[in-house]
Amino acid sequence: MTFNKLSPKQKQIFRWCYVDKYNALICDGAVRSGKTICMITSFILWAMKRFNGAIFGICGKTVRSAERNIITPLMGIADITAYFKVTYTRSTNLLTVEGGGRKNSFYVFGGKDEGSYMLIQGITLSGVLFDEVALMPRSFVEQAITRTLSVSRAKLWFNCNPENRFHWFYTEWLLRAEERNALHLHFLMEDNPTLTAEQLVNAEKQFTGVFHDRYIKGLWVSAEGVIYKDFADNTDRFLIDNVPDDIMYCNIGFDFGGNGSAHAGVCTGFSRRLQKVVVLEEYYRKEVISPTELENDIIAFVRLCQSKYNCFDGYFDSAETTLIRGVKTACAREKLAFNVHNARKSEILGRIRFTNLIMSQNRFFVMRQCKHVVEAFQSAVWDSKSLTDCRLDDGNYNIDSLDAFEYSIEPQMNDIIEVSIKK
Ligand SMILES: Nc1ncnc2c1ncn2[C@@H]1O[C@H](COP(=O)(O)OP(=O)(O)OP(=O)(O)O)[C@@H](O)[C@H]1O
Ligand SMILES: [Mg+2]
Repeated sequence: MTFNKLSPKQKQIFRWCYVDKYNALICDGAVRSGKTICMITSFILWAMKRFNGAIFGICGKTVRSAERNIITPLMGIADITAYFKVTYTRSTNLLTVEGGGRKNSFYVFGGKDEGSYMLIQGITLSGVLFDEVALMPRSFVEQAITRTLSVSRAKLWFNCNPENRFHWFYTEWLLRAEERNALHLHFLMEDNPTLTAEQLVNAEKQFTGVFHDRYIKGLWVSAEGVIYKDFADNTDRFLIDNVPDDIMYCNIGFDFGGNGSAHAGVCTGFSRRLQKVVVLEEYYRKEVISPTELENDIIAFVRLCQSKYNCFDGYFDSAETTLIRGVKTACAREKLAFNVHNARKSEILGRIRFTNLIMSQNRFFVMRQCKHVVEAFQSAVWDSKSLTDCRLDDGNYNIDSLDAFEYSIEPQMNDIIEVSIKK
């Protein structure tokens, strides 16, 4: 690709680094607004113009994501490759750029990779680009910045999508941009000159609630209020009385209770080509029961689900290893063809985003009789006092059915997002 068109804001990304008063650039805002692609191009051009034989850092959330989001696109940018020889060596995570009698090295680091943290401690960097900086641990970012302090003309490049208002990058860098001599550019999707009106509308539809505020409007806002607003406002749109006839198989997710929380199980079905996700059956028991009684209940729930559907996999709260072992033994004793797995328990925010996405795409349904699940989705709220995004869990809300649902869909989550939606 070449940059045939640049928006006024994108042009500033290419210019700021030649203005002496700035030490850093911060580009925050909406998704797909053209931050990363312009930053990496201008970063390389600046480095080649100002340095020779120097070392730089290119940081992503992980090394792999940096390769995917930065290095691969970079190799296709004619404005770079027409003038420089660009080589990337995956085994050493090293990008070298050569041309006009100069040669510089760019090491790729992952903020969340243990190894990167160790490696970055030893070197001196003449500039660092942080892609998606809000997803990196603060300690990593600060360590990387420290590595540039001995180079007089070093500059820093940050980009990210907004997070919670209490996020350290917001309070430490965005709110203090001026005193840190950082240029702050706020991006919206309109700042990407290549997006069509239709692409803009489609992108808008992917996000609701707090995610819409952050990823479309580009605002740093705390998550407050109802989490599944669509579901709470229009519950009937999501409820069904008959099982769709194209359900191919289902998973069970199970959250063990205790300390006032309930034992909750959810059986979720997936339709042909993963187009639909349907909550088919539920189990819910709040009182204190013995492990044996719980095992018997689980066996009965699995039997019920298996009598109606293809259901061979269960994902159980992985913190409760003794209970999981008990369920495994019980399944073997009862000769059930049922695989007991540990739940993945990925980041809650990712799970919530996923559910919001399939809700807004009209791909999520609940059988009307699963009343605990329905009520859990209607009533879930964000914990506005929390410094990070999390669901309010003060004993008054049914978080258990939500956890169980999420354990049941986690293994399919990426595939469900990736399949094209049949209109
Ligand atoms: N001026 C431009 N010319 C050509 N292509 C562009 C231009 N600006 C953006 N693009 C393309 O638009 C897409 C989105 O850009 P980019 O990935 O840089 O956005 P981003 O703001 O980093 O998004 P995110 O926040 O989701 O990471 C990319 O495919 C990129 O190549
Ligand atoms: Mg980006």
